[in-house]
Amino acid sequence: MTHVLRSSGHLAADRRYDYARGAAAEGDHAAASDLLQQTLEIAPTWAPAWFALGEAREELGETGAAAEAFAQALAHDPEDSQGARLRLARLGAVDQPAQPPQAYVRDLFDQYAARFETHLVKDLAYRAPAVLREAVLRATPARRFVHALDLGCGTGLMAKEMADLFDQIAGVDLAPAMAAKARASGLYVQVEAGDLLDFLNTRTPASADLVIAADVFVYCGKLEDIFAAVRRVAQEQAVFAFTLQRGQEGEYRLGEDLRYAHSPAYITRLAGAHGFALASCDEVSVRQDRGQPVPGLSVVLLAP
Ligand SMILES: C[S@@+](CC[C@H](N)C(=O)[O-])C[C@H]1O[C@@H](n2cnc3c(N)ncnc32)[C@H](O)[C@@H]1O
Repeated sequence: MTHVLRSSGHLAADRRYDYARGAAAEGDHAAASDLLQQTLEIAPTWAPAWFALGEAREELGETGAAAEAFAQALAHDPEDSQGARLRLARLGAVDQPAQPPQAYVRDLFDQYAARFETHLVKDLAYRAPAVLREAVLRATPARRFVHALDLGCGTGLMAKEMADLFDQIAGVDLAPAMAAKARASGLYVQVEAGDLLDFLNTRTPASADLVIAADVFVYCGKLEDIFAAVRRVAQEQAVFAFTLQRGQEGEYRLGEDLRYAHSPAYITRLAGAHGFALASCDEVSVRQDRGQPVPGLSVVLLAP
């Protein structure tokens, strides 16, 4: 978890919280837990301290107590900007949510925006844009697109990668800081800061011939509504291309990494249910996690 500047409004509580974060960073989770309990004696409704206490307790193997702390974090921050609900689901204390809390994804990427490209591309060997470009070209060789959409466009890496394949592209990203970077790239005719489903639902029907989503559905979970919305904006023979983290069974599953993985069977079923033909579904890794390739899928669908 990134350390962001937070304040409880009580200097003494803030100090203990900062010491606790320092102790946690050094691996002393017992000290962190003590300091956070002291913090909460002063500021008992302060969600960041409850969340950090949940993390410390989880590190100490105190699963039940960790779940209690995450539940408190959620109770005191119902918007859930820290993703306490996901932590509760990972601990098995609640069912996995159909999608992550939007405030959590938004804050995560707003904090990440400044170092996103260097960290993701250089440190995590991120290559979803190149993988999607290759898959789209293979499925529809030499095709040029007129109106492309980039869902979860981030800083604009996808538009840069495919710039020679479309006339114009519009993007959307939940995190305003990411959307601002994409806008500043000058590659998009329009970039909206908001949820991709709202963006799709407010566009003219049958108005796009290419819809791409690179490493975005890992933050979306259930994909039914998104498939329906893409189908609505898709022109005849439009291409819908996206990457996923590959799940083995069921439909979608929240992983240990707090990202969702989707099974190939789920994607095939959704494609069929919404009238898309499966042009390709390749097993490919588009990023690493702790030096290991994360199993993924790149999928290209064609609208009827
Ligand atoms: C790993 S980044 C990938 C960015 C970009 N597609 C690329 O390939 O560089 C995932 C992006 O998806 C965005 N995102 C996640 N859920 C979203 C949603 N429901 N609506 C819009 N954007 C979303 C995040 O804010 C983040 O910028």
